[in-house]
Amino acid sequence: MRIPCQRVLKRVGVKGIEGGRAMDVGTGPGIFPIFLSKAIPGFRFKGIDLSPVMIDLAKKNATEAGINSRIEFEVGSAYSLPVENHSLDLLLCINTLHHLDRPVDFFNEVARSLKGEGAFVIVDFHRDASFVFIGIFNLLWKFFFGKHPKARGGFLESVRSSYTLQECLTFLKQSKLRDWKLYTRTVEMWIESTTHERRKG
Ligand SMILES: C[S@@+](CC[C@H](N)C(=O)[O-])C[C@H]1O[C@@H](n2cnc3c(N)ncnc32)[C@H](O)[C@@H]1O
Repeated sequence: MRIPCQRVLKRVGVKGIEGGRAMDVGTGPGIFPIFLSKAIPGFRFKGIDLSPVMIDLAKKNATEAGINSRIEFEVGSAYSLPVENHSLDLLLCINTLHHLDRPVDFFNEVARSLKGEGAFVIVDFHRDASFVFIGIFNLLWKFFFGKHPKARGGFLESVRSSYTLQECLTFLKQSKLRDWKLYTRTVEMWIESTTHERRKG
């Protein structure tokens, strides 16, 4: 998971945010906020997930990483983020959008939660990716996770249940989020705030 974490860290770095209140939505085992908290100690991360099992695992991982005093994990929903209005400096949501059947409601929550100058990085698969890329990534997935029978078909299931670029574009336009860009990298789509880039440019 090191490479995916580094890619997210790089995008956060581009925005020049060096700390503050951050939230990871659909945190799973907490890999991304733990990695970012170690790389940028100024962040105070909260990771939320619908699954109490995942939250327990994330807490265990934070303890093992020696950073449980500066990171919190709690059960929570993407549709009702446990933060005050306009209080977050950074919001992450990695590989979770395809679990959400009300993406516009989630994007509205992102708009409500972020400070005016806050940043977000949302990454997920898109099901209209090239079948060549899907095939290659499926092989890689099976190579790394194929030993676990339950996980073997996980990549294809996730891609098939993800949104197309056009669907996502429509959801973003319907939402209250402003200053975003949507772009693709192989099987992934990335949705990011552009506030900081605009200011720099
Ligand atoms: C594929 S996992 C991604 C975990 C993590 N972000 C990562 O990339 O390692 C998706 C996670 O989203 C969580 N999830 C699904 N629906 C959610 C919702 N409505 N609110 C919060 N979390 C949700 C699931 O429990 C699951 O842990």
